[in-house]
Amino acid sequence: MPIEHASVVLERLVKVFTGGGRDVIAVNDVSLYIEPGELVTLLGPSGCGKTTALRMVAGFEMPTSGKVLIGDRDVTNTPPNSRNTAMVFQSYALFPHMTVRENIGYGLRFRNIAKPDAEQKVEHIMELVGLSGFGDRSPNQLSGGQQQRVALARALVVEPRVLLFDEPLSNLDAKLREQMRGEIRRIQKNLSITAVYVTHDQNEAMSISDRVVVMREGQIEQVGTPEEIYAKPATRFVADFVGKVNFVPVMIGESRGEDTSVELFGRQMTIPRVPYGAGETHLAAVRPEELQIVPADIGFVCGEVAFRTYLGSVVEYDLSLVDGSTLMAVEYNPKARPPLEVGDVAGISFDLGKLHLLR
Ligand SMILES: Nc1ncnc2c1ncn2[C@@H]1O[C@H](COP(=O)(O)OP(=O)(O)OP(=O)(O)O)[C@@H](O)[C@H]1O
Ligand SMILES: [Mg+2]
Repeated sequence: MPIEHASVVLERLVKVFTGGGRDVIAVNDVSLYIEPGELVTLLGPSGCGKTTALRMVAGFEMPTSGKVLIGDRDVTNTPPNSRNTAMVFQSYALFPHMTVRENIGYGLRFRNIAKPDAEQKVEHIMELVGLSGFGDRSPNQLSGGQQQRVALARALVVEPRVLLFDEPLSNLDAKLREQMRGEIRRIQKNLSITAVYVTHDQNEAMSISDRVVVMREGQIEQVGTPEEIYAKPATRFVADFVGKVNFVPVMIGESRGEDTSVELFGRQMTIPRVPYGAGETHLAAVRPEELQIVPADIGFVCGEVAFRTYLGSVVEYDLSLVDGSTLMAVEYNPKARPPLEVGDVAGISFDLGKLHLLR
């Protein structure tokens, strides 16, 4: 299927909702370049402006200011049906009185396509999304996952230049959600179609995206690959929102050559040089799996196991420090040595060479 790749550009996009006596700035100066064929996810907590941003790309919402470009065309004032985008919703929005085949073919009716060609397109798409043989059923004879496939097929059949998803999997159970996100990714890659995907589920965002845009209160907090977002979160908000994390205060000392001396857990240590001034305190984001549990006498600090969760492939620990704070640690391959018990005291260390300080 020859879909033309298109970039999507958001240029200083703002959306203010007025009414009810109070203005809501839903999207606040968002700029973003999405490459042709890229899948970019807008990730963030409820109310941060994800849907509003997506609806401005689709044309369902007019920006208060700023521009939307698809390819090199400014579509800011173009109606939705002339933008060459297609949207997949959380509530599949299928027509209950039409068959699967009719639902999928619906968007082709208005496109001046010869009937045999349209039928062929519909069959092809049904095959692509795994619905072959379901064409004559009505939506109420389908499972949730199958209904979502119909919604996806209906969006794909019109060969949009940009595919938009608003929490498409949130009505499915966990297992099906994982399977469907894999399929969406596979189809999107096969077709090299540009996609903008909205979710508040960090696992979904991490697993499906080329890049993730973390949003907070209408603004972009960080843009990066899933690896960058997880390993090098720009802010405390991002670190906290994407996965579990420990925040460890680090007092900066003198920098000399390649090194900076710091105070960590009340001890003087040396880390690779950081661009911060002596006397400043910054937080280091340390993921639970980066903590190493070592004999009590060789750790940076000691912790007492306050809580232990055995999950088979991993064991999670909450370790209480003498200062009253808690560190979360995760150990993989628990068989490597007997797991710690609640009340045990262990040493805790981590790789100072990879310490990630938040700005
Ligand atoms: N039509 C509207 N009129 C007034 N306020 C609105 C309207 N649509 C959205 N908002 C407000 O704009 C903000 C952003 O809403 P939006 O739906 O974009 O959030 P979201 O990130 O998609 O959240 P969720 O994860 O809950 O779907 C919210 O404060 C919301 O209440
Ligand atoms: Mg939303």
